[in-house]
Amino acid sequence: MANVVVTGGYGFIGSHLVSALLDRGDSVTVFDFAKNTRDTSIDFDRHPNFRFVQGDVTDKAAVEQAMTPGVDTVFHLAAVVGVKNYMSNPLQVLDVNVIGTRNVLELAQRHGTRVLFSSTSEVFGKNPNPPFAEDDDRVVGSTRTARWSYSTSKAMAEHLVFAMHDSYGLPVTVVRYFNVYGPRQNPIFVISQSVHRILNGRQPLLYDSGDQSRCFTYVDDAIAGTLLAADSDAAIGEAFNIGSMTETTMRDAVDLAIKLASIDSVSSAEAVDTKASYGARYEDIPRRIPDSTKAQRELGWRLDVDVEEGIRRTIDWARANPWYLEGPAGN
Ligand SMILES: NC(=O)c1ccc[n+]([C@@H]2O[C@H](COP(=O)([O-])OP(=O)(O)OC[C@H]3O[C@@H](n4cnc5c(N)ncnc54)[C@H](O)[C@@H]3O)[C@@H](O)[C@H]2O)c1
Repeated sequence: MANVVVTGGYGFIGSHLVSALLDRGDSVTVFDFAKNTRDTSIDFDRHPNFRFVQGDVTDKAAVEQAMTPGVDTVFHLAAVVGVKNYMSNPLQVLDVNVIGTRNVLELAQRHGTRVLFSSTSEVFGKNPNPPFAEDDDRVVGSTRTARWSYSTSKAMAEHLVFAMHDSYGLPVTVVRYFNVYGPRQNPIFVISQSVHRILNGRQPLLYDSGDQSRCFTYVDDAIAGTLLAADSDAAIGEAFNIGSMTETTMRDAVDLAIKLASIDSVSSAEAVDTKASYGARYEDIPRRIPDSTKAQRELGWRLDVDVEEGIRRTIDWARANPWYLEGPAGN
C-alpha cells in the first residue's frame, strides 16, 4: 500500500484518480482549494484511507501539511484550466503552474517523493505538423495573447520538473493529456458543454468553422495511463503523451452528442464567432493529435473507450446526476 498525495484531487481528473488509488489500496491525501461538496457522485472522502488538506498550492506552508515525510508519490494535478480562464486570469494560471509546481517539487526533493506531473497537449501550441511526438517542437504565439499563458507556464513547469530530475535525481514523470472528457468535467469544454446544454434542451455551441479537430480521451483511459506511468521505474525522467490518436472534428463531436442524447427539441448546433466572444487576439488550434505510441510501447497503455462510447457514458452519468445539469454551463 502506497502513501500518495493528489493535488487538485477534487477536480475532474483528480477525483477519478483518487477513486482509482483508493480502490487499489493506497492511502490518499488530497490537497485542494476546497472540498467538492456539491458533487454527490463523489464518495471517496468517507473512505478510511482518505485525508484532505485544504490550501492553495502557491502557499508552500500549506502544501507542506500534505507533503509530509513518508509520502511515496505526489500526483501534481492542481491547475487552472479552460481557455476562458487563460484569457481572463492569466496571472493565476501562471502562478499556479510555476510557483505551485516549484513548491511541490521542493517538498518532493526534501522527502524523496516520486513526482507525477500532469501536463498538457497545449505545450505543443499551434505546431502545424501533428501528430506530436513527445520531443516535438513547441510553437506558440505572442505573449500579448493571454491564451498562451497556460501553454507557456505548463512548459515552464515541465522544465522545472526535468531540471529537478537532472540536477538532483528527483524521480519525476510527465504525462501530457490530450482533451480528456467524461463524468464531472466542468461544462466549459466541447463535450461536457454540449452534453450539459443538450440535456437542458439547449443547442450546443459550435465555435467558428467547427472543422478544428481534437483527439478525445475518455477519463478512465487517462487515469490508466497516469497509473502506469507513476508505477514504472523506466518512466522516470520521461514525458508521455496520453491521448487517443483518433482525430474528431468539433462538428462531429457535437453532432455525436446530439445524436446520442436524442432530445427531440435539439437537432443542430448554434454557431459562435470566437473573435466576437474572446476578442481579436484570440487564437485557436486547428488540429491537435498525439503520437502516443511511446506510452503504448513503454507503458503498455491502450485506449479502451472510443469517443462514441465515452460520450454515451458521459450522457448516462449526467442524466443520473441532476445537480450537474442544474449548475451553470460555460456560455
Ligand atoms: N481535462 C483535460 O482535458 C486536461 C488536458 C490536459 C491537461 N490537463 C491537466 O490535468 C490536470 C487536472 O485538470 P482537470 O481537467 O481535472 O481540471 P479541474 O479544474 O477539474 O481540476 C483542477 C483542480 O485543481 C484545483 N486547484 C486549482 N488551483 C489550485 C490552487 N492554487 N491550489 C490548490 N488547488 C487548486 C481546483 O480546485 C480543482 O479541484 C491539470 O493539471 C490540467 O492542466 C487536463
